[in-house]
Amino acid sequence: MATAIKYFQLNTGANMPSVGLGTWQSKPGLVAQAVDTAVRAGYRHIDCAHIYGNEKEIGEALKKLFEEGVVKREDLWITSKLWHTEHAPEDVPVALDRTLQDLQLDYVDLYLIHWPVLLKKGADRKSPDSVMPTDIPSTWRAMEALCDSGKARAIGVSNFSSKKLGDLLDIARIPPAVDQVECHPIRQQTKLQEFCNSKAWSPLGSPGTEWIAGTVLKHPVITNIAEKLSKTPAQVALRWGLQMGHGVLPKSTKEERIKENFQVFDWSIPDDFLAKFSEIKQDRLVKGEFYVSKNGPFKSIEELWDGEV
Ligand code: A2P
Repeated sequence: MATAIKYFQLNTGANMPSVGLGTWQSKPGLVAQAVDTAVRAGYRHIDCAHIYGNEKEIGEALKKLFEEGVVKREDLWITSKLWHTEHAPEDVPVALDRTLQDLQLDYVDLYLIHWPVLLKKGADRKSPDSVMPTDIPSTWRAMEALCDSGKARAIGVSNFSSKKLGDLLDIARIPPAVDQVECHPIRQQTKLQEFCNSKAWSPLGSPGTEWIAGTVLKHPVITNIAEKLSKTPAQVALRWGLQMGHGVLPKSTKEERIKENFQVFDWSIPDDFLAKFSEIKQDRLVKGEFYVSKNGPFKSIEELWDGEV
C-alpha cells in the first residue's frame, strides 16, 4: 500500500518536507524559474547553499511567490550551507546574514556545515593545498549561537562520516538535526543510516555532472523496476530514498522533470522489488578528491571519509 511520506520529523520537532528542490548547478537565469515551477507544483522545500552562487536569484523568486500569495514563508522549508572558508566562529554569523540577505529572509529552517573541510580564506573551492585542519567544535558553537538567535531554526552538517558525526554528537549542546549526504541506490549509506535518519543529497547521483563516474538512472535494476511499475527511473530512485526514510533533493531546472520528481507520493515500491536494491554494487560518486593532498589533513580519500568509502 502506498504511504504518502510527505514529511520527516527532525529532532527539533519540526516537520521537514521530504522532497526538496536541489539547486546545486542550477544556473543563474534558470534557477528562479525552477523555484517558481517547483513551488507551484507543490514543493515546499528548497535546498540552497552560498557556494552554488544563485541565492540572490532564489531570493527574488521567493519574494515574488510570497507577494503573489502562492505560498507563505511559514509553509516553506529553506536550507542553506556554510562554506569552507567561513568556519571561523566570527565568520559564521556573517555568512548566514549574507545568505539571509540574498534570500530576502529573516531565518532559514536549516543551516548546515557544508563539508567537514576548512579552506584558507579566499581559496578556490577545489584547491587541495589550501585545506587546513578543521576545528569543528568551535564552528559548531557558532552554529549553536545561530540557533539560539532564531536565524537558523535548526542546524546540521553535510558530508560527515559516521565517525565525524559521532565526534560532533559527543561535544554538541544542540545535536545536529540532519547529515545531508550523497545517497542513492548506488550509495545506500547503510552504515550512516544506522547513525541517523539522514537527508539525502544528490539522490539521483547527479547524472548531469560530467565528473561523476556512474549513473544511477541507467542502472539495470532501476530501469527494470521502473518499467515494471510504469514509473521513470528518477521516480524509482527518489521513491526508494523516501521508503528508506531519507529526504530527497532532486535538482532540475526543467519543468517536466521538476513535476515528474514530485510524483512520488501515491504509489510505492513493493517489498520484492525493494529487495533487489541490495544487489546493486555500491560506489561513492562524489569522492571529494579535491580535498586530499600529501601535506594536508586528509592524505587520502579514505582519510577524508574515515574509511567509509
Ligand atoms: P536537469 O536540471 O537538466 O533536469 P542530482 O539531483 O542527483 O544532483 O541530479 C541532478 C541531475 O539530474 C541534473 O543533471 C538534472 O538535469 C538531472 N535530472 C533531474 N531530474 C531528472 C529526471 N527526472 N530524469 C532525468 N534526469 C533528471
